[in-house]
Amino acid sequence: MPGDNSREASGHRKVFGIAALSAIWLDRLVEIDSSWNPSSWSLKLFERELANPASRLRGLFAGNTLIGYLCAHVVMDEAHIVSLGVDPGWRRRGGGSELLRDFLRLCRLENVRYVTLEVRASNGAAQALYSGAGFKMAGIRKHYYSDNSEDAITMRHEIA
Ligand SMILES: CC(C)(COP(=O)(O)OP(=O)(O)OC[C@H]1O[C@@H](n2cnc3c(N)ncnc32)[C@H](O)[C@@H]1OP(=O)(O)O)[C@@H](O)C(=O)NCCC(=O)NCCS
Repeated sequence: MPGDNSREASGHRKVFGIAALSAIWLDRLVEIDSSWNPSSWSLKLFERELANPASRLRGLFAGNTLIGYLCAHVVMDEAHIVSLGVDPGWRRRGGGSELLRDFLRLCRLENVRYVTLEVRASNGAAQALYSGAGFKMAGIRKHYYSDNSEDAITMRHEIA
């Protein structure tokens, strides 16, 4: 069951729980991912992440309902966020920020020195989320996304 490690409740913000995910959440992960991802992940792909020792798959919970997730790879002192999504009905309540804060805490515990990611050039919401969490723009990868040839902005967070 998710641990209540959010202490950000104020105003419209809600207290969420965050926990490492297991196979019982696979169907729900696919459901959340397919709600926003044009190249959505299959159940097999999430299964592979669960089996990958480098992978960290963290779930955001409202009560016992999974409403978001973050997937990242950690190799030595580097981490790369490969996917992050919040159920459309639960956005703008602090959940995405909470997932990022949780992951950065985890990185500190694992002695990770920096975290990188790619985000679509058109995805202002995610860019604002990442900037707010301390990520800085690091570069541009031209035509990175195969579905529409969109550029990716690469972002990087140095862990103090
Ligand atoms: C990006 C995403 C994860 C944000 O999740 P969220 O739970 O809504 O994020 P939060 O409520 O913690 O928002 C934190 C900040 O991000 C920014 N933000 C979030 N959504 C935004 C939007 N639609 N427009 C502009 N800024 C936005 C704001 O600065 C916000 O702070 P504020 O609410 O105080 O203004 C969510 O919109 C999502 O799942 N999008 C689809 C998947 C996706 O794009 N993933 C990123 C792939 S790289």
